[in-house]
Amino acid sequence: MSDSVRIGIVGLGRLGRRHAENLAFRVAGAKLVAAASPVAEERAWAEKTLKGVTTYPGLTELLDHPGLDAVWLVTPTSLHADQVIQSIRAEKHVFCEKPLALDPADCDRAIAAAAGHSGQIVMIGFMRRFDLAYAEAKRRIEAAELGEVFAIRCVSEDRVDPSGFFVRFAPTSGGIFLDCCIHDIDLVRWMLDGAKPSSVAAVGSRILYPALAECGDVDTASATVSFTGGRIADFYVSRTSHRGYEASMTIVGSKATLDVGRAIPRLPLTLESDGRRSVAGQVDFFERFGDAFLHEAHAFVEAVRNGGPTPLSLEDAREATRLACAMRAALKVG
Ligand code: NAI
Repeated sequence: MSDSVRIGIVGLGRLGRRHAENLAFRVAGAKLVAAASPVAEERAWAEKTLKGVTTYPGLTELLDHPGLDAVWLVTPTSLHADQVIQSIRAEKHVFCEKPLALDPADCDRAIAAAAGHSGQIVMIGFMRRFDLAYAEAKRRIEAAELGEVFAIRCVSEDRVDPSGFFVRFAPTSGGIFLDCCIHDIDLVRWMLDGAKPSSVAAVGSRILYPALAECGDVDTASATVSFTGGRIADFYVSRTSHRGYEASMTIVGSKATLDVGRAIPRLPLTLESDGRRSVAGQVDFFERFGDAFLHEAHAFVEAVRNGGPTPLSLEDAREATRLACAMRAALKVG
């Protein structure tokens, strides 16, 4: 392998473009050499913006790019498992956006494919693990500063989006638990050191986006999970926030309580006038987790160059999918 890891990105949509710009311009040790999308305008964007990158209509063609070391998948979730497997079999290192797959059986297929290629890095994009605040919370738990952690409350809220993006996105995303709550599921398992869930309850509603009914999705949901050892976690997840994007967590231990990321202002400015206070909330996950996406990319490149390890395993990704599917099933049966 040359000094730089030569990467081909697949998927140049809402998030793919951000990853592509990071890999092309901001990640030391990465060289973005190829980009694929079935959409001509997206390929044209890549040719114009990511100078020197060769474009392809899909993964199969991109895998033949000369000297390619790694594939970076930012495609619809329903395609992840098959594309991960295809890339592994083509002897490439693989980064794939979350979640690994929409059901545990597909995760198992990917895990089985990776097992025969232990020299290749396969990493799933749970970027919140690379956010400095969540990482610091994990460090403090490990340093026993909180005592025994026995309860976690999580909130993940997207801003209301009148354009109806969430409705268009729902058919391939797996729904709110697999698409959005999956981040908190992964974090809770991480904070609880891989604890096993023992029961799941869930409720949900669709008030602002009734069209989500077509694919059985909801715009607001809540799930409660008990883990072995009597530990519990609450997950509130929505597409209906009026005050800005929020990703936060309260971790309760026998000695201390730790809050991560609650109501982070867009800018550190608070305006007070006529006895009213106003703070501009963050717009979306790019604003909140821009640095985490970069740290994540650095971690992947370093893992490829050093032969591992990656901070999270494919089994972690499978467990996150499994718990999200259990939440969806609990919601369905009430
Ligand atoms: P999007 O719909 O905006 O983009 C999907 C891209 O995949 C488009 O460029 C499309 O042309 C391309 N594509 C579609 N079919 C393809 C095929 N057969 N072969 C190759 N490319 C194909 O979706 P978005 O929002 O960018 O999401 C993509 C993935 O990223 C999803 O899995 C989603 O869960 C994940 N994501 C992760 C986030 C995070 O917080 N880590 C945030 C947003 C998305």
